[in-house]
Amino acid sequence: MSQDVLREPAKAAIFLVVDVRPGSEDTARALLADLAGLTRAVGFRAPEDQLSCVVGIGSSLWRRLYQAPPPRDLHPFRGLSGARHTAPATHGDLLFHLRSRRLDLCFELERQVLRRLAGHVQVLDEVQGFKYFDERDLLGFVDGTENPEGRAATAAVTIGDQDPAYAGGSYVIVQKYLHDLDAWQALPVAEQERVIGRQKLSDIELTDQPANSHVAATTIVDPDGTERQIVRDNMAFGTPGAGEFGTYFIGYAATPAVIERMLQRMFVGEPPGNHDRILDFSTAVTGSLFFVPTAEFLEAPSTRGPATSPDGSLGIGSLRRSRT
Ligand code: HEM
Repeated sequence: MSQDVLREPAKAAIFLVVDVRPGSEDTARALLADLAGLTRAVGFRAPEDQLSCVVGIGSSLWRRLYQAPPPRDLHPFRGLSGARHTAPATHGDLLFHLRSRRLDLCFELERQVLRRLAGHVQVLDEVQGFKYFDERDLLGFVDGTENPEGRAATAAVTIGDQDPAYAGGSYVIVQKYLHDLDAWQALPVAEQERVIGRQKLSDIELTDQPANSHVAATTIVDPDGTERQIVRDNMAFGTPGAGEFGTYFIGYAATPAVIERMLQRMFVGEPPGNHDRILDFSTAVTGSLFFVPTAEFLEAPSTRGPATSPDGSLGIGSLRRSRT
């Protein structure tokens, strides 16, 4: 069973990125195995508020935790440098993506997770996110409209035959963006709409889409005409007193290549130079890539090895042991 990747858009979220200290692998692996139980314990008291937690594992930690060969497309986030804008790569062993209709549930689950990991991890980044009015980001635009739904969403995020040992898993890329809201608000609304590619109030897509709009940059179509989709659940965050206003981008996909192609088009541009104008008002300050195993793998990694043996023969049904 996949983790809770596909949810209705969250009202509140916490994004927690940590590094696992050397020697703390057993503690981390045990916490991951208990995470579903912890989430149930916190969330069951308010089931209508739909607490969920997805955990992603970074490539360098994978080799420390599990003996099974890494998932096919797991690698460190690849930073990008365009002529004007840069997407930095920042380290992260584990990503916890906590979502609910209320922040206190996320907060309590994060507290319980960190209690279990006390002394064993270093917190690298921690962001409390919220939805701003009707599903908007802090640029004031409705964010998430073109997310696929139903079967299309499942297909977009779920690993299938391309990596049978990890079928049911997913990949996730996160980036924390800070906005220059003064510069953004100085822009007339009609111009803001040309930056995003949709109308601000009605959320209707522009018919005369500029080539450097955000929607144009992130619309990926294969040569055979198939659109490649991802599932996002971006959240607004900020500290007005410190002048900090941001969007925490989170994108799930069956292969990171789709998101990487979007990032290439945003930061470098196709053709190069045609960068996404949203970046003239938004600076990426983090960037990490994680693999999202199935719930079964997390609970019992020692019995959930890959179906293919290192020699290439099919090992379906055989038990593989992790380094416990
Ligand atoms: C500053 C950060 C970002 C903000 C504020 C933002 C905001 C938005 C908004 C307002 C839309 C239009 C409505 C919608 O369909 O959701 C949108 C669309 C989209 N964004 Fe972003 N976004 C950000 C970063 C990213 C990144 C980094 C990616 C991927 C690498 C991405 C991928 C997409 C995709 C795939 C769409 C749908 C395009 C379509 O098919 O129409 N976004 N975004």
